[in-house]
Amino acid sequence: MGRKLVIGLLVIVMVLGCTHCSGQGEVLHEKKLGRSGGVSYGTDYITIGFIQTGKESDWRDANTKDYLNTFTKEKGYNLIYIDGNSDSRRQVKAMYDLISQGVDYIILDPIVEDGWEDALKLAQDSKIPVLLADRGVSADPSLYECWIGSDFRTEGINAARWLADYLKKNGRQKEDINIVILEGTEGASATIGRSEGLQEEIRKHDNWHILASECGNFTQGEGKEVMDQILEKHKDIDVLICENDNMMFGAMKAMTQKDVSYGVGGRVITISFDALGEAFENMIKGKLMASVECNPLIAGLSEKVIRQKEAGLEVEPIQYVEELVFTYENADKYIGDRKY
Ligand code: AHR
Repeated sequence: MGRKLVIGLLVIVMVLGCTHCSGQGEVLHEKKLGRSGGVSYGTDYITIGFIQTGKESDWRDANTKDYLNTFTKEKGYNLIYIDGNSDSRRQVKAMYDLISQGVDYIILDPIVEDGWEDALKLAQDSKIPVLLADRGVSADPSLYECWIGSDFRTEGINAARWLADYLKKNGRQKEDINIVILEGTEGASATIGRSEGLQEEIRKHDNWHILASECGNFTQGEGKEVMDQILEKHKDIDVLICENDNMMFGAMKAMTQKDVSYGVGGRVITISFDALGEAFENMIKGKLMASVECNPLIAGLSEKVIRQKEAGLEVEPIQYVEELVFTYENADKYIGDRKY
């Protein structure tokens, strides 16, 4: 109702000085009153502030594209896209800015779980529904509408179970197995969940030993750097688990440079998460042995929730996306259907 009231002329969308914003948030908009009493950006449009983590991985790029392609003007949305630039404080500040602008909804993909309580409380008091997408927060669930994303703990469990099956199939179930883990960003729910799931399963095998577990921040560059350092200290790695594909691509480069053989027929068993197109190419080549899917295409589910809210319907508080485990044995069968 209120978003139909035109009260002024033009305003520049100002979000954190906006040097990293892109999409429709960067252009000039007509100034109108939003439902929550603040500034909205077009008659009949639903204004959505989307706070992204940054650009740390190819998964992230696919996820951003999905949101930009889903919440379009043609479909009746004004999307204010904010690149968190891998900086939590920047994300929190963006949240306060969006609240003061009186957007209709906020979709938040938090870099880390902690530190969101106050901003979420203010959004709730300002009657702006917040949807969490991809990663979660440690704050009380009553402060947000719902969380849409992956079951990260199950992903970790699935990765370790694939390893157990593979070792068994190859008669290596009783051997001592030395594992290296490259973890994602500290405090991120993708890291917390995957690490928990992995540890839970690893503990079940007395002969599995973790040689090193280090943070590679979900980036390819840090994956390479951290693996370079690990290879200086450890020559006897049997398994490398990277908590995303991009860190694995970096780590593969480090192993190649140091003549460490990996993949099918090599010394190091390679497992990662996301199941990107490039991961499929590597699985087909036998370089990557398994990639546990993490589906970035969740904007459609977020839109569905917003439509439900607009219709006054109840919303499911936790919505997991369906995910599979892909391997060097089945990658060629699925590569043609991959969308990211
Ligand atoms: O939160 C999802 C994770 O974040 C993906 O696994 C990773 O690639 C991304 O950056």
